[in-house]
Amino acid sequence: MSFPTTRMRRLRASETIRRMVRETTISPDNLVYPIFVQEGKEIEEEIKSMPGIFRLSADKLAKEAKEAKALGIPAVILFGIPEKKDELASESYNPNGIVQLAIKEIKNAVPDLQVITDVCICEYASHGHCGVVRGEEILNDPTLPVLAKVAVSHAKAGADMVAPSDMMDGRIGAIRKELDEKGFINTGIISYAVKYASAFYGPFRDACDSAPQFGNRRTYQMDPANRREAIREAELDIEEGADIIMVKPAMAYLDIVREVRDAFDIPVAAYNVSGEYAMLVAAAERGWIDRDRTIVELLTNIRRAGADMIFTYFAKEAAKLLG
Ligand code: PBG
Repeated sequence: MSFPTTRMRRLRASETIRRMVRETTISPDNLVYPIFVQEGKEIEEEIKSMPGIFRLSADKLAKEAKEAKALGIPAVILFGIPEKKDELASESYNPNGIVQLAIKEIKNAVPDLQVITDVCICEYASHGHCGVVRGEEILNDPTLPVLAKVAVSHAKAGADMVAPSDMMDGRIGAIRKELDEKGFINTGIISYAVKYASAFYGPFRDACDSAPQFGNRRTYQMDPANRREAIREAELDIEEGADIIMVKPAMAYLDIVREVRDAFDIPVAAYNVSGEYAMLVAAAERGWIDRDRTIVELLTNIRRAGADMIFTYFAKEAAKLLG
């Protein structure tokens, strides 16, 4: 039936009817809050290219965790910034390292907050790459045992889930095997399965001082031009034992979120990355867009594309807007 019998505007006439026919919902349940933790005491250092986001020392985490919990946010993801970086990223699996310490602080303060840890070596390695380096080559297979060791050290410290973000082939299987062998059968894996070599990670690398010292990440992260390859990546990680798969970045890759959602029944996460955060914040600061409305719209869009959960620096702010 067409116009004038059908009038689409009837279902848009008031907020009440709009609420009734809304197809996508978003709540704090869908959000994961990223936290940067660094060594030292009483540190709250704002990241230049990410206004409103801070590098915190471990003693500041209890407050942060309680705040997230009070806002209804179920989970955080931790990124560590160690004092010392070396060629082998040895701080990444130090049982007393910064992330291991941070996990304990948060679990003590808020036991039921889901603690996810980013598993990668780029933040801990002097070369800034996500794998073991020989000359100018990023080696795949020698990186796997290191990642497995990092994951086990996080599980030992009390992490609920580990999230490998390195994009080496075979790492999900290697991590699952090592976790199981060490008795951590209930530690979950969120795989950064579909992670693109994106310029949108710029501010994050500022935050962690983790820009590669030579070359780039294109031999391991995906080419932004590729779509079918995303399905292959996700498929492999699911076979190797991933519990949740992630697409990253989110905003410019919503078609990929949708494809992955349609292809698999496993929960899908999307990472609303640092550059996406920085762009929106910068435009809002200039008064060019409405900050609150843009945040809610963007996160709703990511949900509509099919993401069950969204990793976002806006988590606390969004939870307040949605609450
Ligand atoms: C580590 C890692 C990165 C991000 C998450 N984990 C950086 C990278 O791969 O260069 C990016 C997160 C963001 O930009 O918000 N491998």
